[in-house]
Amino acid sequence: MFAKKTIEDIDLAGKTVLLRADYNVPLEGDKIADDYRIKQSLQTIDYLLSKNVKLIICSHLGRPDGKKNLAYSLFPVAKRLKELLKKEVEFVPDCIGDEVKKAVSKLDFGQVLLLENLRFYAQEEQNSEEFAQQLASLAEVFVQDGFGVVHRAHASTDAITHFLPSVAGLLLKKEVDTITDVMSRPNRPLMAVIGGAKIADKIDLIHKFIELADQVVIGGAMANTFLMSQGFDVGSSLYDRSELPIARDIIRKAASQAKIRSFSFILPFDVVVSKKIDSAMPVRIVDLLAHSLAEIESYPKRPNRASGRVEKEELILDIGPFSGAFIAGNMQSANTVVWNGTLGVTETKSLLTGIGPYSHGTNLLVRSIAGEFGHRPFSLVGGGDTVSYLSENNLMNLFNHVSTGGGASLELMAGRKLPGVEALENK
Ligand code: 3PG
Repeated sequence: MFAKKTIEDIDLAGKTVLLRADYNVPLEGDKIADDYRIKQSLQTIDYLLSKNVKLIICSHLGRPDGKKNLAYSLFPVAKRLKELLKKEVEFVPDCIGDEVKKAVSKLDFGQVLLLENLRFYAQEEQNSEEFAQQLASLAEVFVQDGFGVVHRAHASTDAITHFLPSVAGLLLKKEVDTITDVMSRPNRPLMAVIGGAKIADKIDLIHKFIELADQVVIGGAMANTFLMSQGFDVGSSLYDRSELPIARDIIRKAASQAKIRSFSFILPFDVVVSKKIDSAMPVRIVDLLAHSLAEIESYPKRPNRASGRVEKEELILDIGPFSGAFIAGNMQSANTVVWNGTLGVTETKSLLTGIGPYSHGTNLLVRSIAGEFGHRPFSLVGGGDTVSYLSENNLMNLFNHVSTGGGASLELMAGRKLPGVEALENK
């Protein structure tokens, strides 16, 4: 149960409210490439406007390193917000100072003002009390709803709570409740699917799931490091040599779990390879198991099986169809699936078909989670890249919960405290 006060627990009538959102959205020029985070903030904004407050919204966008850089302006967000809210959204090209104070003084009840990027000031990331005080002077209540940023102790997530009554918004509460519930009381069997490039980014999460889940599936480039650590050739694939001991350690831990309870740790046992990341280049499926077990005398010889070795100049770009089917099959008995990270190089699209040649593993996973093979587990999806992929392909509504947080959802799942949540008032 969420232990912090929310906007539903306080009297907002006649108040000026400062809302911290996470509008760190991907931009292509001045166009918003994915507005999921903006859409997810609407419930809180609608609630606040229904209470007829004067609403000031602040956020960061990107990492402008404490300098004003219009490539990271929140102006496109103001435009999009206006379309989504179907009402005027004022924008002020600063977040503190006289110009902002003037814009706030003109604000009426029921009106919305978006401030410029907080990270145009280095004091934001420095968690500066003085900067936080200037922000706080604009309003009477602070509402934290930027789930994606509450793992940072910054001026607008931490120091600001020293100056204003500070409560959670509805998105923050929903995110924390959903993720905490799955991690503390999962409806078993629980399957965790973890992809992405580097083990280091998700090491705590992998450890956590080896202790908690019934099955852990590894895909993406990090699987290459695991495969390499087990003596498989990965050719020219992306992998991290420095992470080999970590991978071995994790596999040892997984093996010891499998001895004491019903648990499996699934690495891809066939992979899609090509000589270049290019949708026009031919791909080949390499059956790793055929290779690794060929030496075992009792292993039945299957003469038609594809070659079992990734060649020196080849790159692993996706999990193979045997592995995909194995994961989808196993998922039929899972009641909860937590997924973070795509399983292949999903960014590459075929010019001819528009479908990524290395997206088949991820697509099979999506179809399986969505219940296309008969059973539909409860699904929790997190992570920036995964969400971008789903959003780009209009797949978001196939899942029970798609988190707006990248790092924040990883940290919460791994059991860490989030400074931006801790700082809020207790119930
Ligand atoms: C995110 O996109 O994960 C959040 O907005 C936090 O951004 P940051 O990693 O730049 O702090």
